[in-house]
Amino acid sequence: MRVLVDRREALAAGADACAVGVFERGEKETALPRSLAAEDAAVGGLVKAAWDRKEIRGKRREITILHRPKGAGRLVLVGLGPRERYQHETARRAAAEAVRALKGRGARTLAFRLPSFVAEGVAAEPAARALVDGAVLGSYEFVRYKSATDGAVEEASVHLGDDLAREEAGLRKAVAEQSTVDDAVVWGRDLANLPPDTATPERLAEEARALGKELGLKVTVFDERRLAEMKCGGLLAVGGGSVHPPRLVVLEYAGGARRGRTVAVVGKGITFDSGGLSLKPGPRMAEMKFDKSGAVAVLAILRAAAQLKVGPRVVGVMACAENLPSGSAYRPSDVVRSFNGKAIEVLNTDAEGRVVLADALGYVAAQYRPDEVIDLATLTGAQVIALGDDTAGLVAPDDRLAAGILAAAQVTGEPFWRMPLTDFHRELVKSEIGDVRNSTEIPVAGMLTAAAFLEQFVGNVPWAHIDFAGASWTNPLTRRYQPAYQPVGATAFGVRTIVRYLLDAPRG
Ligand code: BES
Ligand code: MN
Ligand code: ZN
Repeated sequence: MRVLVDRREALAAGADACAVGVFERGEKETALPRSLAAEDAAVGGLVKAAWDRKEIRGKRREITILHRPKGAGRLVLVGLGPRERYQHETARRAAAEAVRALKGRGARTLAFRLPSFVAEGVAAEPAARALVDGAVLGSYEFVRYKSATDGAVEEASVHLGDDLAREEAGLRKAVAEQSTVDDAVVWGRDLANLPPDTATPERLAEEARALGKELGLKVTVFDERRLAEMKCGGLLAVGGGSVHPPRLVVLEYAGGARRGRTVAVVGKGITFDSGGLSLKPGPRMAEMKFDKSGAVAVLAILRAAAQLKVGPRVVGVMACAENLPSGSAYRPSDVVRSFNGKAIEVLNTDAEGRVVLADALGYVAAQYRPDEVIDLATLTGAQVIALGDDTAGLVAPDDRLAAGILAAAQVTGEPFWRMPLTDFHRELVKSEIGDVRNSTEIPVAGMLTAAAFLEQFVGNVPWAHIDFAGASWTNPLTRRYQPAYQPVGATAFGVRTIVRYLLDAPRG
């Protein structure tokens, strides 16, 4: 979606539709707010009529579409809920609700009246970013395999009007930057939604190569032969059951500063997780095409980071494999040696994510000596039990790194919750016959024992682990509890927050 900034009043722009936010009316608030006078006039008094009949109350998720006379498009009034509870997330959701309400209704262009989506005393810039998020992400749909689709809004414009005309320069920059980030998110959603017959480890590696070529990134792909030379026993074991061999993919963005920090981002790229010989039960297996979401997030992060020329050097690592049962699959009770030399006792082939990440983390820590490493993974079902479908678990023993990621998440609105890592969890992953076991004897704190396992492979690099098993995709069953900018399927969660983190990171 194209997103523009326009200093004119939204109503004057000639767009197919014009979106205006309406705060919830108070008990004693009977008169139409003065801020809606222009809209009321544009539809010949219909806003006031609907207001008087209490059809417009400004409740969250309330949408009213009114037609303007003489072919001048439509007016979309979007409820924002109570003024005093306004957050930028309110604008993000409202924008998504507006574009979704217009889907299939022949509106190609949509003009947002920015001041109506900002509460008094709140900065307009983050609100403008939120509108961009809502419009771009809310209109997303995975259409690759559909022969016909409903027409969606193709162009959104953010209108400043007299109220905000003085902030034009800053708002232009913010909107352009945010739309670059959101384009990367949409691109990531398209990749993560691809079915596993198409999105094989080789295909993910090809996507990385193509991206590298487009943006001038250095891309290295390690195939199964190289992985054997490098002694990446984890990737080879997990990928051993599939005819699609594993790949370790490394992308490097050089960074804006001459001698800046190096941030490594590492992603779990299981293109399909059947569980392997420890086969998953049938009904939920189809969800496991989303088990590559970590690696896809890494790709999308590198794309936006390079396009926006963030300060730090960024090294992206994708650990790609397909976890299938077969005569050549790895088995429960196998012992595999990871890149860093540690012996992993495999007790459950369905705990495969940590086994491939072990190689990737060990490799990047040794090869690049990064200042910090952040991994993203759909790692455990326990994460979904603990935090649900919207919130990711953050395990980051390093307080500074944790604070940086949480501060970025505060801006983007992506929900993260920090979780502890204790010696209890570390004890649970010790192996009887090797260094570390991939599954514990007792099923407690599954998200955190998985983190304790990963910690064995990061050396002494400050490290943050993001388990987004729940938030990486929208389940049709929980869709209606989610914001309108999270349509069914892949969400590309984490991309907005990590890019924000990289944009705000200190340069030196
Ligand atoms: N990919 C799954 C985790 C997952 C579960 C992601 C549900 C999204 C939704 C992971 O590989 C897995 O199977 N983990 C096991 C680990 C267990 C065997 C120790 C799990 O969580 O059940
Ligand atoms: Mn698994
Ligand atoms: Zn998995």
